[in-house]
Amino acid sequence: MPCTRRSFNTLAAAASLAALLPGRALSADKPLVLGFSQVGAESEWRTANTESIKSAAKDAGITLKFSDAQQKQENQIKAIRAFIAQKVDVIAFSPVVESGWETVLREAKAAKIPVVLTDRAVNAKDDSLYVTFIGSDFTEEGRKAGRWLVDKMKGNAGPINIVELQGTVGSAPAIDRKKGFEEIIAADPKFKIIRSQTGDFTRAKGKEVMEAFLKAEGKKINVLYAHNDDMAIGAIQAIEEAGMKPAQDITIISIDGVKGAFEAMIAGKLNVSVECSPLLGPQLMAIIKDIKAGKSVPKRIVTEEGIFPMEVAAKEFPKRKY
Ligand code: AHR
Repeated sequence: MPCTRRSFNTLAAAASLAALLPGRALSADKPLVLGFSQVGAESEWRTANTESIKSAAKDAGITLKFSDAQQKQENQIKAIRAFIAQKVDVIAFSPVVESGWETVLREAKAAKIPVVLTDRAVNAKDDSLYVTFIGSDFTEEGRKAGRWLVDKMKGNAGPINIVELQGTVGSAPAIDRKKGFEEIIAADPKFKIIRSQTGDFTRAKGKEVMEAFLKAEGKKINVLYAHNDDMAIGAIQAIEEAGMKPAQDITIISIDGVKGAFEAMIAGKLNVSVECSPLLGPQLMAIIKDIKAGKSVPKRIVTEEGIFPMEVAAKEFPKRKY
């Protein structure tokens, strides 16, 4: 059953905030200042996420300093350093890749500025470098995609040849969505990933890489697993241009559940989209207020999500918020 309900879900003990309490004194006439470093504007999902953060900050009376990293880690590190220099109250960011954050996070900790991770995780060993991580369980999203495929291909003796469009190399969603999907399909040797390459979460790259897959494998391809809807939408164009029918000749699975994916499902061109909600703004602002009030917050806040096969797309579409 599709599910759009989201809730706070405590997975770990409450974080100790004592070491991170702010240098800047709170007062009623001084609004909280949040420095937010965004990944970029690579997808429909990201645009909705940015909009959610900007509008939630406005509604919460939080002053937002927003920086777009254009998918480059060095830009995010620069932005975080600038936020530290400006003595913002809280820093939040969605890390473009998982590794390489220790140094700058230690600088934030030394400046006593709490850091909140949103959407994507870091793989730092020292988890005292951030207060909490709000976002989806990407491994579970990959598993949902895998389970849907296993169910769809029941009774098909195989082989079932899969091509995979991965997200940005080194990013948490690309790593985890691959892992979760592989974990499920590994149970049956009829499933084979015959090609796997990054499409960097963009439509243009998704189309380009799918063209290359089609050129190399042609009609051997039975399934496309795309780590996001934008890449799937780009790939659909490539499949049509190659004279094939998307969602019929090639089964297509993607992740996000953006409006563009619903339109593709309603048009009969995409089989299923696993939900990944970008609407993290209100949760982020609430957590920031708790942190600044010295309250304990959960170390991990997981977004609850569903899965939408094409059969339910028309009915669900009017309810979609992104
Ligand atoms: O980190 C979330 C992912 O980043 C979304 O699935 C993708 O569309 C975006 O670019």
